[in-house]
Amino acid sequence: MEPRSCEQLVSLIFPGLPYVLRASRGPDSAGGQATAKLRRYQTSSSHINLGGDATRRMRAPVLPEKKQSFYNRLSRLRPLVRGSDRLAESLIQKTLHVLAIKRFPLLARRLAYQHRQFNNSKDVEQLAEWLRPMDVLQLAFWLSSLYANLVSRQVRKDRALFFTPPELSTRVIANLREGGVDFSTARFIDPGCGGAAFLAPLAGVIRDALSDRGISPKRTLRHLETHLTGWDIDPLLCKLCKAFVWMVIYEEIKATRFIPRLNVKRGDALTMNRRSKSHFDVVVCNPPYRKVPTKKLADLSQENRAICLGQPNLYAIFMTVAVKLATPKGWIALVTPTSFLSGPSFMPLRKRLAADTQVCQVDLVEKRQGVFVSVEQETAVTTLQKVPRNAKGTSRERRETSVFAIGSEQPSELVGMASVPHDGSAWVLPRARGDVPLLAVLRARKHTLASYGYETRTGLFVPHRDKRRTRKWRNKEARAFPLIWSTDIGQDGCFEFEQAAHSKRFVVIAKKDDGVVLRKPSVALQRTTAKDDARRLIATPVGGDFVKKYGGYVGENHVVFLLPTERAVCDVRLLAKILRSNTVDRLFRCISGSVSVSSSELAELSLPDPQVVLAALARRESIESAINEGYELKRKASDETPARRVLPEEAVA
Ligand SMILES: C[S@@+](CC[C@H](N)C(=O)[O-])C[C@H]1O[C@@H](n2cnc3c(N)ncnc32)[C@H](O)[C@@H]1O
Repeated sequence: MEPRSCEQLVSLIFPGLPYVLRASRGPDSAGGQATAKLRRYQTSSSHINLGGDATRRMRAPVLPEKKQSFYNRLSRLRPLVRGSDRLAESLIQKTLHVLAIKRFPLLARRLAYQHRQFNNSKDVEQLAEWLRPMDVLQLAFWLSSLYANLVSRQVRKDRALFFTPPELSTRVIANLREGGVDFSTARFIDPGCGGAAFLAPLAGVIRDALSDRGISPKRTLRHLETHLTGWDIDPLLCKLCKAFVWMVIYEEIKATRFIPRLNVKRGDALTMNRRSKSHFDVVVCNPPYRKVPTKKLADLSQENRAICLGQPNLYAIFMTVAVKLATPKGWIALVTPTSFLSGPSFMPLRKRLAADTQVCQVDLVEKRQGVFVSVEQETAVTTLQKVPRNAKGTSRERRETSVFAIGSEQPSELVGMASVPHDGSAWVLPRARGDVPLLAVLRARKHTLASYGYETRTGLFVPHRDKRRTRKWRNKEARAFPLIWSTDIGQDGCFEFEQAAHSKRFVVIAKKDDGVVLRKPSVALQRTTAKDDARRLIATPVGGDFVKKYGGYVGENHVVFLLPTERAVCDVRLLAKILRSNTVDRLFRCISGSVSVSSSELAELSLPDPQVVLAALARRESIESAINEGYELKRKASDETPARRVLPEEAVA
């Protein structure tokens, strides 16, 4: 992506549309007023045509519409496969065959499934009927998702069978187009291609690009044989992937009576990449995500091991593989969880990405509705361009990263520009336009938990493995201490210990284990929140009266406690209030890419000047306005309307 003004950016993404958002730029920019544009997209309804403008469209909402209908079907089909992976595969293959007979007869022989299982099955017929009128990308998504939901949990988890909905893959392609990818010449790979979420729409776009150049259908099909590559560890998905690509180019197949041999191979991308040249102009992927078992680390190449800190996530390794597979100046587009943006264990990955690529764009998918079926993840679409080896380490100018919010309820929006740091520290990105002024606050970090005189402690009681005696009632046992669970921390900031009945309400702690008992007041925070929770920081004070009553307490492992030291500048009630404020919550979201709340991210958090907050509260100002004063923010961040261009030095925390 070339350096561009917001106007250029907007018109590239959304040509021919009226501007609906005005954004003022900072004083560094030449053009004064910049304009970003908001847009709702519509995908084509029944026919796949992702050429031209269609690739720039994304239907809002991102969430596929047919989710309810899908779940109804799933509950009817589950008893038929009886938890057997083999039966799940049979059911899907039979459905694919029936669908081909009904709608893609020239593919029927290729997709024939001889096994007698599910022959003449009404359920298969009905499923095929449900899929038949859908556009190909939709039916591909639903059939793959059905497969993923019918196989055993273990297979699903091991392979991370969660598929990118068409609305999101279309966005990925739009970003590539905007970056200048030439679809008529580029070679593409998806190293975890699943149900062709990317390869199928790409086939359509490539076909259209070639057709615009007057290339014949036969040559187009031949071109696809050499320019579209997919790998996947799951054999059935490889088969589905090919089938869906053929369905997209079915008109060309019909015209030529030629079915191309697609380069979709079954295998482990982590080993296949070692044999493969870095000759792909574009690498697209929604990598599998799960922890890599420690014993498997030894199997990784040295290059991949180098980005592992602690127990790495497979998706981080896939991200480095994706960069490796790309040509110099090649493009890499990735749909991933947002945890890599800030998680401490992703530090070497961030460093590698910042060194080897230009981070052109990050689209943050808004939280409200699930983008994937059965996944609670915050999602980012990251577009990178590989830096040629000889340009590394030179003083070449790094361009800023465009940060977009894309979502199910809001139109896509350019929220600001940011610079990613090169030292591996967290990528602090604005989540909404009003966040842009907050980035300066984050960078300043005049006050932190440490300067407030607080230290963090994670609850040490792990229910599933802790052998200590627990009980519902204390029964005057002197060494039974209250056990604080995350559910005791109310969303509204109330401490609900005494209201909530719990079978493990108290835990008996032997004298020799006294270290696990907390004997000071504290702020208790939920360590894990849900994607849809209104707040990421759900905090409550555990007051001195509680400590006095029970003589101490113990924390369950999903709670983090902030304990005052002798240098504490405010009491736990005020700190809990500050953490629960809108401004602090939004600041936290800018540094935290996940639903969990870690001690390291809390330590990074910039807090308001406590003396200023106290003085403002003494004047009877609201907590929100006291906090904004404490941050020297003139107005409430939520009042900000124009998106300001962020100076690079402001954006780096
Ligand atoms: C999150 S899904 C995404 C699939 C598809 N690209 C999409 O976006 O819908 C991850 C895919 O990676 C595949 N996979 C998992 N581990 C793999 C590995 N080691 N090598 C290649 N593919 C793998 C899974 O079978 C699955 O299809």
